Amino acid sequence: MKALQTETKSSNNPRFRWIAFETTMALADNGQDVIQGLSQPQKTLPCRYFYDDHGSELFEQITELPEYYPTRTEQDILAKFAIEIAQFTGACDLIELGSGSSRKTRLLLEAYHQLNHWLYYCPIDVSAGILKATALALLHQYPSLKLCGLAGTYEQALAQLPPREFENRMLIFLGSTLGNLHPLECDRFLAQIQQALQPGDFFLLGVDLQKPVDVIEAAYNDAQGITAQFNLNMLRHLNHRFQANFDLDQFSHLAFYNAIDHQIEMHLCSLKRQTVVLSALNYEVCLSDTETIHTEISRKFHLPTLSQELKQHALYPLHIWTDPNSWFGLWLCQRQCTSGECP
Ligand code: SAH
Ligand code: AVI
Repeated sequence: MKALQTETKSSNNPRFRWIAFETTMALADNGQDVIQGLSQPQKTLPCRYFYDDHGSELFEQITELPEYYPTRTEQDILAKFAIEIAQFTGACDLIELGSGSSRKTRLLLEAYHQLNHWLYYCPIDVSAGILKATALALLHQYPSLKLCGLAGTYEQALAQLPPREFENRMLIFLGSTLGNLHPLECDRFLAQIQQALQPGDFFLLGVDLQKPVDVIEAAYNDAQGITAQFNLNMLRHLNHRFQANFDLDQFSHLAFYNAIDHQIEMHLCSLKRQTVVLSALNYEVCLSDTETIHTEISRKFHLPTLSQELKQHALYPLHIWTDPNSWFGLWLCQRQCTSGECP
């Protein structure tokens, strides 16, 4: 896999590095995953296609919605415990997966700053626009911060992390983005986390927990219709990226809780029988009236089950913090030795 060191206006700033992974080299970005998903009996699309510049902006709007509790709940937990987390790790390389606007991460940056702990911050995101804008804003705000932005998928970035600056490394994955991975993807992802960490390193994970269904369903069916726009934006993104002709007016947003698998499922429902052409992929797809394309799962976790999964990947929970309703969980895990790794 190739990584491109992209020159930017700020590349003469010694505190800033920018690595953009060569997207055309990656199987995941040549559209084969789109063709594969649309060829299934239940049509699906990978949820990372939500996030172009406009999708990232819509996600930011979602985080402010009264119905969307996860962001503010996790933010409250972080506000209380960021100092404790910084005390645990000391100066470290802080590598964030799916960093987006890094809004909640600022609480951590502030805590390290207060404790005079040095940081090397590496935000990773597939949505390069928000990643770069955030990186530049943070460098301006924190004059002692060193930063390396990695534009690409988790898999690409985790396989080619920059060399360590500090002895300790902490990977962070906030916002319950883990819940957007199917169980098998989640297992592969945790295996990659295990590999990227050495014994003694840390993993900070924020996950949304099981709770009354009406609360969860409202969060994905907001009254202002922003989540619907976010869902439909995936089609706009595909139109642009693969010269497709999805007509956004001919699809509607659908989100419901699947109580068996403990997950929200988001779909785009076709409002008529239609054929869509994806010219750049030389592919066309026929949809019948009311047929759906499954665009996202958002799993809601059970603490003891997740704890077992983490331990299977040598990630030992040191601390679990929750809010007063136990709606959201923030885990600080430490990478353990596996047999043969430590004396
Ligand atoms: N961590 C932030 C943002 C969560 S939104 C928060 O808690 O608010 C999910 C983020 O992950 C988006 O910024 C999106 O662009 C990014 N993302 C989604 N799929 C990705 C993938 N496969 N690889 C890298 N980033 C991805
Ligand atoms: C990024 N992710 C954790 C969000 C979630 O809640 O699953 C994405 C989202 N989808 C709809 N609203 C928000």
